Amino acid sequence: MCGIVGAIAKRNITPILIEGLRRLEYRGYDSAGIAVINGSGQITRTRAMGKVAELENALNKTANTGHLGIAHTRWATHGRPAERNAHPHIADQLALVHNGIIENHAQLRKQLIALGYTFTSDTDTEVIAHLLAEHHKTSENFLSAFRTTLNTLRGAFALGVIHEQEPDTLYCARMGSPLVIGIGSEEHFIASDPLAMLQTTDQFIYLDEGDHARLTLTSREIWNSSNQPTDYSITRYEHAAHSLDKGDYRHYMLKEIYEQPQAITDTLAGKLADDHVFTSILGPDAEQQLHQIENIHIVACGTSYHAGLVARYWIEEQAGIACQVEVASEYRYRTVSVPANTLLVTISQSGETADTLAALRYAKKQNYLGTLAICNVAGSSLVREAGWRLLTQAGPEIGVASTKAFTTQLVALLWLTTALAQAKQRAPEIINANIRALRNLPGLVEQVLQLEPGIEQLAQSFASKHHALFLGRGPHYPVAMEGALKLKEISYIHAEAYAAGELKHGPLALVDEDMPVVSVAPSDSLLEKLKSNLEEVRARGGQLINFACERAGLETSEGVTHIDMPWVYDSVSPIVYTLPLQLLSYHVALVKGTDVDKPRNLAKSVTVE
Ligand code: G6P
Repeated sequence: MCGIVGAIAKRNITPILIEGLRRLEYRGYDSAGIAVINGSGQITRTRAMGKVAELENALNKTANTGHLGIAHTRWATHGRPAERNAHPHIADQLALVHNGIIENHAQLRKQLIALGYTFTSDTDTEVIAHLLAEHHKTSENFLSAFRTTLNTLRGAFALGVIHEQEPDTLYCARMGSPLVIGIGSEEHFIASDPLAMLQTTDQFIYLDEGDHARLTLTSREIWNSSNQPTDYSITRYEHAAHSLDKGDYRHYMLKEIYEQPQAITDTLAGKLADDHVFTSILGPDAEQQLHQIENIHIVACGTSYHAGLVARYWIEEQAGIACQVEVASEYRYRTVSVPANTLLVTISQSGETADTLAALRYAKKQNYLGTLAICNVAGSSLVREAGWRLLTQAGPEIGVASTKAFTTQLVALLWLTTALAQAKQRAPEIINANIRALRNLPGLVEQVLQLEPGIEQLAQSFASKHHALFLGRGPHYPVAMEGALKLKEISYIHAEAYAAGELKHGPLALVDEDMPVVSVAPSDSLLEKLKSNLEEVRARGGQLINFACERAGLETSEGVTHIDMPWVYDSVSPIVYTLPLQLLSYHVALVKGTDVDKPRNLAKSVTVE
């Protein structure tokens, strides 16, 4: 959802900004641009359509260097991807980068046109640039113009601004979209995500909603929305040790798939004892309050929503607590009925997804017992605003299609289920079995990753297909949903998931020899039911691909392919069965020749509505 970076330093900041953009490309890659104040004190701007590599090519032709600058990688919202819509936008003597959406842009544009301003782009962002120029005419200084402008804007935004009259100052603001300040030795940076600046610093200030700041080489002033100086703290970035390059892997997605055993191990670190789990890690009073929970509402988006759907099966069965799961974009706009003693759980890899964050803010005004964020980014808005936190330790996930973030969310949710079962004094066998299963999980995941060559071969049969069905039952139904989402995200094959029992109520009409049907078939209590559903597919000539436990007794025949999965404990089975589906979509995408890590039209972190 657009990535912004900015820097002020004694050294040339162009390479720092370009490296920052490369690291933020997961947020959007329609176009990119940079503006710096050059040696003569003037703003020079370079923009290019497409990925950051195109911007680099453009920069090779026109040197653009300086000590103060801002840069942007775009995910188009207002105005199609085009060079004239790429940021930075310039007005008068200033340049500006923006992430987010200005809701009152149409009205502001009209007012500015009436005042004689000419627009060169279709973006909502350009109104901010002209507004700043307009307010500067009547303000005592640029800071005051910046503040007046911020007060005029409605919507969600993070901004970075430079002005030729102040060649030693970088301005920034955060309102609804993430922004951090990075601190170097006599240098300052701004970025949508600390990842962008890890090459220069691991010291960050996470701005709060409504904050704005003025940065020079050696000074930083941060104010809140009432223009009062804020008490900020400097945080050391925790994932600094994680490698951010692809290493020997062809794609980030594959690297991240293979990082899952370690990510699961890291997520479980410090959370399990031999016969109980450490509930105090959730936050203040968690140990005392968990037993009061009678209902759970889970709210999330995309892949994180699928993790919530799996958890509902666990929480209701193992902890005996009623649980409902909803996509955040719906939840935030409806009247929610909140029974007494309900816990609100938000799940998000990034912790910055606009709808999920809005859902949490909405929930905080309701009658919830408490709020919990399950998140992969410790300093994110979601974590900072929720009452309790449960951090996954997947490390940075760069591939747009979520893999290790999903499985570690499931690990966290199974841990949460265990914590709730423990607080509710459910049978100790439940707790012990989950702890045992979680401890064995990384080894099992390693084992399943070895199935890759067989899955790679299987992927060839998808080369000419346009549609696919994914089937599962029980908690493996949301696993099938996640498998279908992965396939459509990165291979552009239309894929849908069904609870296998629903097949005969409509989708069976679609089944013929051109429709691959993927089934998730662990050896659980629903296996016999699933087998009947698979027979329904075979009888219509459908091509069946079964990810099935070797003990399931499914027979191979013409049109039926099996990938044999190891036997697993029931509770971790949804986690284990996710892996072959990730590998399948990865290899189908390779066969299709798509951009695996940056699929068209998508972005990793959706910080707009
Ligand atoms: C985007 C990403 C998905 C992700 C979803 C929610 O759509 O492409 O991979 O599942 O956002 O993101 P979150 O960071 O809240 O988990």
